[in-house]
Amino acid sequence: MDVVSLFSGAGGLDFGLLKAGHNILWAIDIDKDAVSTYRANIGYNIVLGDVTKIDFSCLPNCDLIIGGFPCQGFSLANLRRNISDERNVLYKSFYEAISVKKPQYFIAENVKGILSLGKGKVVKQIVSDFKNAGYDVSTNLVNMADYGVPQTRQRVIFLGTRLDCLDRKLTLPHKTHEKNGIDLPKWISMKDAISHFPEPSEDCTIPNHVCSNYKIAIRNFTGHRKSDPNKPSPTILARGNGGGGVVAIPHYNGIRRMTIRESACIQTFPDDFVFSGAMNSCYRQIGNAVPVRFAFLLGKQLKTLEV
Ligand SMILES: C[S@@+](CC[C@H](N)C(=O)[O-])C[C@H]1O[C@@H](n2cnc3c(N)ncnc32)[C@H](O)[C@@H]1O
Repeated sequence: MDVVSLFSGAGGLDFGLLKAGHNILWAIDIDKDAVSTYRANIGYNIVLGDVTKIDFSCLPNCDLIIGGFPCQGFSLANLRRNISDERNVLYKSFYEAISVKKPQYFIAENVKGILSLGKGKVVKQIVSDFKNAGYDVSTNLVNMADYGVPQTRQRVIFLGTRLDCLDRKLTLPHKTHEKNGIDLPKWISMKDAISHFPEPSEDCTIPNHVCSNYKIAIRNFTGHRKSDPNKPSPTILARGNGGGGVVAIPHYNGIRRMTIRESACIQTFPDDFVFSGAMNSCYRQIGNAVPVRFAFLLGKQLKTLEV
């Protein structure tokens, strides 16, 4: 399928779709490091720019529009919003791109928290907006570990199908793994995923195999819990602790945090996918990404819908 990608970041979602055989015609992100990462690993089809400034009628025709619109617009104070509310600019841009280009399908990724915003009213509004634009939308809470990603990352995946294409409706791929490994292979553990990496050192030639020296203090909150080598990793984060930096997840050796490379591996980026920018920027790009393996499986599912 021909794809237009908004809010592309480093390109986790795009790279998975590309590997499944789709063409990314055009992509955009406002972050220069993410764009530089994208160019080095995926291609020059990405523009460095602000989605809100784009005239979508000038974009190439496509079968699919993808994008994880950041959800800052959906604050609780914002519930009396409607689609023309100024404060929802990023969601509005995604909505406009769909309304103008009318692709057969769209995929939008968001954080789990969007489900509870306004006691569910935000999601209801999104589904209703897209219905009015001519789309059927399913709202899916996905645990990435169920798709062979060594991480219990939960994300909301909105899948849209244009109403005249409902005989080929986009649905989630089948799960490939399960927690206890009864009917499907067991969830992949941190140790399975990253034990092949040596300890980072100055003469190490593995790209991005460097780590934050933010010391580990086990306090019982996100980014500060002990990692278990025999379980999937907790969610790789894109957010900081208020002190400016992104909080990298502790390595299960208990001595240091995971390197950029190890965090990327937990997000199922291949080991030769190189990230650009300062350490914090690299961690942020990785924490922001859709795991490549899940994107690939979704891409394979899309392949079954091609006519
Ligand atoms: C959740 S991340 C997307 C991750 C991506 N889907 C992936 O799989 O790697 C959201 C992205 O939106 C970008 N962004 C935020 N505001 C933007 C704007 N006004 N125009 C373009 N991109 C924007 C951010 O720089 C960030 O990279």
